[in-house]
Amino acid sequence: MQQKIINVEQSEYWNEKSGPKWVKNENALNERLSILTDELFSRAKIKASDKVLDIGCGGGDTTFRVSKLLADGGHVVGADISHTLLNHAKGKFSYIDKINFVHCDAQNYSFDENYFDKVISRFGVMFFGNPSEAFKNIHGSLKTNGSLNFVCWTNMMENEFIIEGMDIITKYTQKVLPEVTKDPGPFAFSDPEYVNEILESAGFKNINIHKVYTSISTKDSAEQDAELLMGIGPRARILSEENLSSAKISMIKNEIIQLCEQRQNGNEITYKACLNYVSANK
Ligand SMILES: C[S@@+](CC[C@H](N)C(=O)[O-])C[C@H]1O[C@@H](n2cnc3c(N)ncnc32)[C@H](O)[C@@H]1O
Repeated sequence: MQQKIINVEQSEYWNEKSGPKWVKNENALNERLSILTDELFSRAKIKASDKVLDIGCGGGDTTFRVSKLLADGGHVVGADISHTLLNHAKGKFSYIDKINFVHCDAQNYSFDENYFDKVISRFGVMFFGNPSEAFKNIHGSLKTNGSLNFVCWTNMMENEFIIEGMDIITKYTQKVLPEVTKDPGPFAFSDPEYVNEILESAGFKNINIHKVYTSISTKDSAEQDAELLMGIGPRARILSEENLSSAKISMIKNEIIQLCEQRQNGNEITYKACLNYVSANK
């Protein structure tokens, strides 16, 4: 695939400040997302000779996983808007000749037309300023009958991993849970009708949105888990907006550790999760 001119606007939700946080928590997140990643891959049915595009590839975990499925003729492009994450992914995986990383805004980047057999994404397509334009662009990059498969969150309240500990944080900060809207962000695609509309308007056919109840689990200690919960999602946002004393932070952390301990069964902490697996064809 030829390199094209890159014109990247930072997305409103994802900017270079988000990258280091993601890199820091990368291994912990990859462990927790493993069940749903398996499900995404079982749906995408990647073949050894496929040309695959991984949108919002972040640190490249899924791009690497695609590369392991490929043989002669197969190729995978990991596309991401974050320099930090893409450089991190390149550092780990650039030695693999079946992988190319492209720094771009996937909403308007000139991908090769009619080139990819498969487009996949794990939580990387909910941040577009103009989702219809973005999916038109993605549609153009697919071969006829090529397929799109991505996984996104359903509504926040059905995802314990996202909301656990929120009551404690709001109690100490007097802040309320941010309202979920269709603005770019992790929950922008909670509403299946909205996703269907976007994909239809972009020209996709055979659109299927499958709501799946699953789990997110970890073998981390309750303390490690509490630290992660406080470092990601709306909890982290609220905490970063408040100038809390270290005494208050440790009170919050201790209470969240207790919640994590209550979830511990054997050496595993588990959260209920609810996801939309979306598939469509060109
Ligand atoms: C929640 S992270 C998911 C990362 C990765 N897919 C994973 O599961 O580890 C969302 C990713 O989408 C990327 N992203 C956001 N907006 C983008 C855009 N317009 N074009 C390309 N990548 C984008 C972010 O930089 C980030 O890496």
